[in-house]
Amino acid sequence: MRISSISLLSAASLLPSLAAALTFDCAHITKDTYKYNLSPLKGAHSIYHAEIVDGSIVNTTYVLNVCNILGGSATRVHLHCGTSRNICGFHYKYDSDGQHETSFAFPIAGLDHMGHGAKDPEVTRLKTIDAETEGLRVKLSGGEYPVGDKKVKSAAAVVDFVCDPDRSGLEGLNDSAKRLLRAREEAEDGDENSGDGDGEGDDGNGEDKGPFYDGSNPDRSLQFKSFNQTDDESYVLNLSWRTRYACDSYSEGRENSSGHWGFFTWFIIIFFLCAAAYLVFGSWLNYNRYGARGWDLLPHGDTVRDVPYLFQDWLRRVVNTFQGAGSRGGYSAV
Ligand SMILES: *[C@@H]1O[C@H](CO)[C@@H](O)[C@H](O)[C@H]1NC(C)=O
Ligand SMILES: *[C@@H]1O[C@H](CO)[C@@H](O)[C@H](O)[C@H]1NC(C)=O
Ligand SMILES: *[C@@H]1O[C@H](CO)[C@@H](O)[C@H](O)[C@H]1NC(C)=O
Ligand SMILES: *[C@@H]1O[C@H](CO)[C@@H](O)[C@H](O)[C@H]1NC(C)=O
Repeated sequence: MRISSISLLSAASLLPSLAAALTFDCAHITKDTYKYNLSPLKGAHSIYHAEIVDGSIVNTTYVLNVCNILGGSATRVHLHCGTSRNICGFHYKYDSDGQHETSFAFPIAGLDHMGHGAKDPEVTRLKTIDAETEGLRVKLSGGEYPVGDKKVKSAAAVVDFVCDPDRSGLEGLNDSAKRLLRAREEAEDGDENSGDGDGEGDDGNGEDKGPFYDGSNPDRSLQFKSFNQTDDESYVLNLSWRTRYACDSYSEGRENSSGHWGFFTWFIIIFFLCAAAYLVFGSWLNYNRYGARGWDLLPHGDTVRDVPYLFQDWLRRVVNTFQGAGSRGGYSAV
């Protein structure tokens, strides 16, 4: 009886972590006794990366929502990648003269619409990889990348959430920021010689339509790192995301018991220290000034001495009140 209830209890306590392991709950990430809440980064965000491959422009837009499924954001015009996914890529390829578009969408992480597949979330603290870097590495799987002949390779995403106390993580991701960037791009397009090359791709490599822009923006908190095949032939999208929500100091308290030494505990400790200091100092004062001994040493010694009697008195009154109320009903005379 007892054993079964205990095992039931432990099974119940395991359930949330099991569910978290299967679905990745961005608001309750627990790793090495630290708790993180990445929910401020929720919502679908998109960035793109363009590069020139064999004279063609390959422009891939990555859409991600680490906290939820993509829903409607998994569809771009005629490309659908699956509303139940968390991270998708939209691949566009153009000739150098902008002709002949080939395009396809592919899931990078998340379950398919039937809930099949495995997201296999893996969370690692960056400090365990590199002691200098604070943050979280989150790996989400479940995607697939087409490699021709109707064959696919599995795909996954590795997002390094790097601690940056000065950033929410949404910098450069909202629409007004995007509009600002577009305006800046247009201004740069107009002025051929302005390219100071601050990480904005290789400007002016013989393109006749102004400098080629690869989509990077150093001011943005979310950065594309790479999309590449790994040793085991699966494809991995590497992203880095600077945000204060990945900081250990921002983590919502340690999980172990010492983490629950809240304000109240400290308050009580400090109260007792103050009381002790008061008693010691008061006794010392009484000793020195009045040559007090014994009970008289204590500050308010007479009051303290009276405490047992006062308490007795109070107790008697309480008992009387109850007895009076019990036997005589509304006894109120004093
Ligand atoms: C790549 O795609 C994005 C979004 O569709 C677009 O804004 C950008 O201009 C494209 N870049 C290139 C070099 O084609
Ligand atoms: C968008 O981002 C800019 C700067 O990155 C910020 O000033 C603005 O408040 C943001 N707007 C919203 C709606 O978050
Ligand atoms: C990754 O991609 C880059 C270009 O995007 C390429 O130069 C590099 O060789 C690739 N690395 C691997 C391991 O395939
Ligand atoms: C992408 O992230 C994984 C982390 O698991 C790492 O092994 C790999 O080297 C990274 N690739 C690049 C190009 O940084």
